[in-house]
Amino acid sequence: MKKSILFVCLGNICRSPAAEGVMRRIAQQEALDLEIDSAGTYGGHAGELPDSRMRSAAANRGYRLTHRSRKIREEDFDAFDLIVVMDDMNYEAVHRLAPSPEAARKIFRMAEFLHAHPGRTYVPDPYYEGREGFEVVLDLLEDGCRELAEYLKNPVRS
Ligand code: 4NP
Repeated sequence: MKKSILFVCLGNICRSPAAEGVMRRIAQQEALDLEIDSAGTYGGHAGELPDSRMRSAAANRGYRLTHRSRKIREEDFDAFDLIVVMDDMNYEAVHRLAPSPEAARKIFRMAEFLHAHPGRTYVPDPYYEGREGFEVVLDLLEDGCRELAEYLKNPVRS
């Protein structure tokens, strides 16, 4: 059955569009029938392509990021099966938007899927970081999205 996933960060120009790109490739490799999108809790970059530093770091790993930033909206809780947030601030903002307790149960933290990085409790915002920050984000997302794909094949929440 087709599943839909919405990745969420703050600006929707660094972490969540990168997660979208990473997950798209995994879905293709593993023939998973997924609808994938991303959004931000802050709408100040709406309409923009991902940050050029993230596009460049992602391109070096073969991901082409073409998403246009948008703000998350309440209807996203109807449209998506899972909403995967990058950090606790995103979690709080998305949780506040949830129209019901069942809707709130669709929210997951990316950190839940970081099996190769067990000490990490969030995906750090790279916006004010140097190059290395963007590489760290991609490392974490490649780990998390791989595990998320495993979860989708066998949905047991640990
Ligand atoms: P993102 O990074 O949440 O990973 O897209 C950020 C992008 C923009 C801003 C903060 C974080 N900003 O403050 O404009």
